[in-house]
Amino acid sequence: MIIGVPKEIKNHEYRIGMTPAGVQELTARGHQVLVQRQGGEAIGLSDAEYQGAGAELVASAAEIFARAEMIVKVKEPQPEECELLRPDQLLFTYLHLAPDPVQTQLLVHSGAVAIAYETVTDERGGLPLLAPMSEVAGRMAIQAGAHSLEKAQGGNGTLLGGVPGVAPARVVVLGGGVVGINAARMALGLGADVTLLDKSLPRLRELDGLFGPALKTLYSTQVNIEACLAQADLVIGAVLIPGAAAPKLLTRPMLGLMRKGSVLVDVAIDQGGCFETSHPTTHEDPTYVVDGIIHYCVANMPGGVARTSTFALTNATLPFVLALADKGYVQALKEDKHLRAGLNVFKGKVTQGAVAQALGYEYASAESVLG
Ligand SMILES: NC(=O)c1ccc[n+]([C@@H]2O[C@H](COP(=O)([O-])OP(=O)(O)OC[C@H]3O[C@@H](n4cnc5c(N)ncnc54)[C@H](O)[C@@H]3O)[C@@H](O)[C@H]2O)c1
Repeated sequence: MIIGVPKEIKNHEYRIGMTPAGVQELTARGHQVLVQRQGGEAIGLSDAEYQGAGAELVASAAEIFARAEMIVKVKEPQPEECELLRPDQLLFTYLHLAPDPVQTQLLVHSGAVAIAYETVTDERGGLPLLAPMSEVAGRMAIQAGAHSLEKAQGGNGTLLGGVPGVAPARVVVLGGGVVGINAARMALGLGADVTLLDKSLPRLRELDGLFGPALKTLYSTQVNIEACLAQADLVIGAVLIPGAAAPKLLTRPMLGLMRKGSVLVDVAIDQGGCFETSHPTTHEDPTYVVDGIIHYCVANMPGGVARTSTFALTNATLPFVLALADKGYVQALKEDKHLRAGLNVFKGKVTQGAVAQALGYEYASAESVLG
């Protein structure tokens, strides 16, 4: 199969859909990989490395879209990329279609077959192509929070790990899923005093078994959250109710319980945020202050560490890319129900119930369109 990897064109997107290692896996199996020149340059993946792995370097995205049978990307296709898609061409990338009627219409109109990373599932009911980005965001949340606690950033001047004779900072993690466990791990590693709250008792038991007494766990109730706030230097918002907007666990009056210069990192901002006072920010201007409390609410945290994120993402996508290339999309989708869960658009039809419902399209099941 001919696989195309264009350079990402969304504003400040430096990740790329395939690393040289991925190219090598594909070319070793007899596939042909077209990579756009300087596609990975911004994160230190040189054209020479791609060429060494067997890629053909191509000057323009237009040529890649014209020649490739499968396009592998990171971000949703921008309108000018959608215009280049051809009927029957396979697109494998993040799509997030439900809130995006323009992109959905362009994909439906293109006649292409679009599989979205974010709806591919796994045996345990997880989302294996979203999890790596949650791992990145969880770990980064502590790094961002620690930086924001410095005086020069407006913080209360507390060092996360303390020093001998001085108590460490108190970190509170709301939600013990993929983001929460990674945040807790990072904060514990830096020597902070960490308390994690979740609504799921099985999850709290699991985390207790994993971390032992180093991690304090609490059942997530309003009373427990308020008690934690009075002590906290850094609070990480990491809750998720699948398919729903994030629950508001902190109201504006609750900020009054916290010491001035304390920091909130709302990782759940991409689902609307779990603090009432959160609004999305960018890497260029990541924080703002409400009632003396610093808010860090970057909606696209993994983009800040695009090199690590590229490797993390492509480790997870590569097995699916190989299956699609080796078997062709019809066979690969028929054989793997988890990959099939990722099918969003098939030759003019919307094959995701949630997307069809949100945007008023007729829904066709993946099974029915694959025959
Ligand atoms: N900002 C970013 O760049 C970025 C990057 C990755 C993920 N995220 C977001 O981070 C959030 C968390 O993602 P995840 O992968 O960890 O999800 P997850 O499903 O693995 O974990 C969510 C956890 O929240 C818990 N929870 C639900 N309601 C709760 C409540 N009221 N109190 C305490 N805990 C509660 C659940 O029991 C679960 O353990 C999501 O909104 C995700 O979209 C943001």
